[in-house]
Amino acid sequence: MASHKDLMQMVRDGLGTLVFAFGHKVGIIDAFIELKDPCTVEELSQKSGLNSRYIQEWLGCMLAAGVVRINKEKKYSLPYSKDLLKRWGHIASVIPIFSELFGKLAEDMSKEKPEGYTYYQPFLKWLDIFQTPEAVHSWNNNLVIPVLNLKSGKDFTLLDLGCGYGRHVRDIAEQYPDCHIFGIDSDEESIKQANIELAKTTLQNVKYEIMDGGKLPDDWVGKFDFVIMNDVLHDAYEVDSILKETKKVLKDDGYGAAFDPPVSSYPENLVNDKTAQFYMPFSLFSCLPESLSGPPGGEGLGAGWGYERRKEKIEKHGFQVIKVHKDVDKVQDGIVFKK
Ligand SMILES: C[S@@+](CC[C@H](N)C(=O)[O-])C[C@H]1O[C@@H](n2cnc3c(N)ncnc32)[C@H](O)[C@@H]1O
Repeated sequence: MASHKDLMQMVRDGLGTLVFAFGHKVGIIDAFIELKDPCTVEELSQKSGLNSRYIQEWLGCMLAAGVVRINKEKKYSLPYSKDLLKRWGHIASVIPIFSELFGKLAEDMSKEKPEGYTYYQPFLKWLDIFQTPEAVHSWNNNLVIPVLNLKSGKDFTLLDLGCGYGRHVRDIAEQYPDCHIFGIDSDEESIKQANIELAKTTLQNVKYEIMDGGKLPDDWVGKFDFVIMNDVLHDAYEVDSILKETKKVLKDDGYGAAFDPPVSSYPENLVNDKTAQFYMPFSLFSCLPESLSGPPGGEGLGAGWGYERRKEKIEKHGFQVIKVHKDVDKVQDGIVFKK
């Protein structure tokens, strides 16, 4: 029988992650990157403009956690690439953001009928930074472009339903200058930010609008070659309306693609699963409450709704799920479907 997790170690790791996130936020990690370690406490202090006694203590935390190294000359190093340090420093900084939601989550949990809550703007901002142009480009190339290749021609019309700050479609629009892209989102702030970023480009083939994916315009019937939804369905409070409307606006030979965390619907499959260990906390603090919100009380899906039940739901709407990446019965990020 597998032994129980060492709870004390779990807490030590959590504390170490918080200290790492703090170092990322205040610039200690950036100082390490710029100094091209190994370096002294004083050098780190000078580079970051931070007090050396505090830096010493931060280094002590990270030495104990096995993240920072020290050599015989008492010089310190952080032996990871700049990309890894920036990426995991930013990811770790979601922990204090989620901590700010303790009160809201606890209050909603104590209700007989939880009402959830809508996106916490600091989290959406965090998410936007997480999606660096390189990360978005590689995501599109791995997951979205193979879907676009299902149809010949590069002058397609694509709807990004729940586009958020619209990064994914700006990258697609650059790669396919002859295509026409609509990005819609029910969140006003997201569309505002998407339009601000769009204005910094010369792209003419992207349009963002505030719109509810569960109520698409009637003059969009049969308009789109592709409808993509990235991290939308498991957050949605009206998944049936969204899928109904997706069917309405897709061309007869069009394709839909829904990308969500690759987590199984069945709790027994989550045991010691590192992918689920990463995604499920995002769901507890953001996806599930978002899916519980909205008139007249949402469905409460979240990442734990899982791949298998999401696929069943898409099939119930009369779509045929097709293989693009892995076999369709394997838990994965994307579900690609046609009418
Ligand atoms: C986790 S964010 C992902 C944003 C974006 N697709 C990305 O990958 O960066 C989910 C987005 O779906 C949007 N959304 C959820 N339900 C929606 C609906 N019914 N209609 C339109 N947008 C919706 C939210 O406002 C939010 O911006």
